[in-house]
Amino acid sequence: MARNPRFDVLFEPVHIGPVTAPNRFYQVPHASGMTNALPQVRAAFRGVKAEGGWGVVCTGAVSIHPSSDDSPLPFASLWDDKDIRAHALMTDAVHRHGSLAGIELWHGGACTLNRTSRIAPLSPSGMPWLSTHLGFMGNLRPRAMDAGDIRELLRWQAAGARRAMLAGFDIVYVYAGMGYLPYEFLLPEYNRRTDAYGGPIANRVRLVKELLEVTRDAVGDRCGVALRISLEELRGRPGAHAPSEAHEVVTLLADIPDLWDVKMDSSPTDCAPSRFAAEGSHEPIVNFVKQVTRRPVVGVGRFTSPDVMVSQVKRGILDLIGGARPSIADPFLPNKINEGREHEIRECIGCNICISSWHDGVPVRCTQNPTAGEEWRRGWHPERFAGPGSDSAILIVGGGPAGLECAVTLARRGYPVTLADAAREFGGRLRFERGLPGLAEWGRVVDWRMARLRERPNVHLYPGGELSADDVLGLEHRHVVIATGARWTKMLFSTLEFPVGDLDVPGVYTPDDLADGVVPPAPVVVFDFDNYYMGGAVAEKLAAHGSVTYVTPAGNASAWTFMTNELPLVHRALTKAGVAIHTLRRVTGFDGTAVTLADVYAGTESRIGCRSLVIVGVRRSTDDLYEALLAQGAALERAGIASVTRIGDALAPGAIVHAVHGGHRYARELDAPVAAAPYSRDFPV
Ligand SMILES: Cc1cc2nc3c(=O)[nH]c(=O)nc-3n(C[C@H](O)[C@H](O)[C@H](O)COP(=O)(O)O)c2cc1C
Ligand code: SF4
Repeated sequence: MARNPRFDVLFEPVHIGPVTAPNRFYQVPHASGMTNALPQVRAAFRGVKAEGGWGVVCTGAVSIHPSSDDSPLPFASLWDDKDIRAHALMTDAVHRHGSLAGIELWHGGACTLNRTSRIAPLSPSGMPWLSTHLGFMGNLRPRAMDAGDIRELLRWQAAGARRAMLAGFDIVYVYAGMGYLPYEFLLPEYNRRTDAYGGPIANRVRLVKELLEVTRDAVGDRCGVALRISLEELRGRPGAHAPSEAHEVVTLLADIPDLWDVKMDSSPTDCAPSRFAAEGSHEPIVNFVKQVTRRPVVGVGRFTSPDVMVSQVKRGILDLIGGARPSIADPFLPNKINEGREHEIRECIGCNICISSWHDGVPVRCTQNPTAGEEWRRGWHPERFAGPGSDSAILIVGGGPAGLECAVTLARRGYPVTLADAAREFGGRLRFERGLPGLAEWGRVVDWRMARLRERPNVHLYPGGELSADDVLGLEHRHVVIATGARWTKMLFSTLEFPVGDLDVPGVYTPDDLADGVVPPAPVVVFDFDNYYMGGAVAEKLAAHGSVTYVTPAGNASAWTFMTNELPLVHRALTKAGVAIHTLRRVTGFDGTAVTLADVYAGTESRIGCRSLVIVGVRRSTDDLYEALLAQGAALERAGIASVTRIGDALAPGAIVHAVHGGHRYARELDAPVAAAPYSRDFPV
């Protein structure tokens, strides 16, 4: 198919100093969790994006010195020449497809606690970067840098830039964002210096300017020099000679970098979850930059719509369309637009599971794209699939995230696939969950897969019919996949976190009851020890019908969402909805008029009056059909059924990302030779 001329502007080249990006699609620096220890995994992950049409593909933050040590979080390094080869694998992979490779040189300053190197963290004035984020909390305070330290920092940046050039990078960054060292110099609260680097904004910006200059000196005219900077806080501070300090900083540095890469200051606003922010949410902060500099500007905002991208360029907001999450969810986004297949873009849903994998310290995972991070170690290409290994027909029972992904991938491989679901609509748990406050975009998991299935002649869809074991035996499929999901239980637990049985009394509900259309009479208590989004989202939804109290044994509402950047925003939303939050409390009973609570540490009891209790705790697999089929024994063989396999929540209940991965894995591995190990192991070079 031909490209829609409306999108032509996105395929214009852009000069970035001495190098030229072949189009406007720019994968901004984002960490992969792969570090230098997994160089092949990392190179393949980045190379696939270049193959998919991203004109520039960058690394994540790359530490320039052991005094910028983020352990135990995963980070890349370019500390000495021994690190060069690991990065060269990536630049080769990116260049193979005609794209530019960028590297974000990074010093974390007071933000990195140097847990491994045990070097006292560096900072402008010895002010700690206070963090209540578990992964960043520490008990070592930074020291103030003297003039010699600043000279050393400039030397490390220059050495990093030279090594980056040797590794084959085309664009080399100075990174002044998100609390890291050069950013700390920009803010007077952290920078209390009285020398040439502190005080008025012209002084506070001096370090960034000098970092740009030494980088330029190091790379000459071989590489473009980019500045990535967070502007949110500065934009809110009035400038002495301009509308804001952000305007002043950009004016002072205007044409010094070859490229401005502009972003927000904190992960929840920068990498904003779709639950609380729409596509293009950075625009009100970064919209002035192009008016101040003649250099190209790249910015982000979970861009997945080509029309929004064109609008950003035509309205003079951005020159290059930055993408971190959209490039993970669909590495082939640019090519799909280029080939007139924009309807096939697998749009990021803004769930931030990718961010959670970085917080987990593992290679990046994605809810929408199960091949992310698996390109090298499992050989999964996002757009290419091995043909069928047999002429077997496959029946998948259950059209939730796992069943849908399994069906799409088997169909793309060329197998005849039948997908059946008891409900009249496909989508499984997402039929309900996409209707919860803020979760509409999560419905893309269903919509993208349903659209692909409807395009395929080898797919038969059977919604609205519950299949029994006898029905399955009569359907003549070689392989049967059970993707029947899981159901919430009314289970409670003891102080030692042992299950103590279901609280099955009138007035107690689970999210499944809500999905069935029940509206529990108010006042309602929501007791959440699932800790992810469901408890908070259900409380927010029910608050529209009457008084809701949210109770959790954790220290925060939806406690695990600190991993996905959503936690502060969940609290804000619950407070706005009028939901009272009780943390560190366990529900011990309910008598139809009140719940009894116990303090998780002290054990002291209290009561909250209510008519309904919604328990959001543990899910159990729905595997009755699986068990019924296994009980058929030899009848399975007589019916020509070679295998019955559970996938997704029917195997082990979990987040949608796991269900999609499980469905994909089944489809990739069907009829494939049995591997000696689940995946190939990578080693440092
Ligand atoms: C998994 C992940 C890791 C990230 N790591 C970095 C990083 O190392 N350096 C950086 O400047 N920004 C990092 N970011 C922020 C992104 O570059 C980007 O600013 C943010 O995700 C918003 O862009 P998007 O809406 O296109 O995702 C990361 C984002 C994600 C999702
Ligand atoms: S994990 Fe979620 S937010 Fe991250 S890229 Fe994938 S779909 Fe987008």
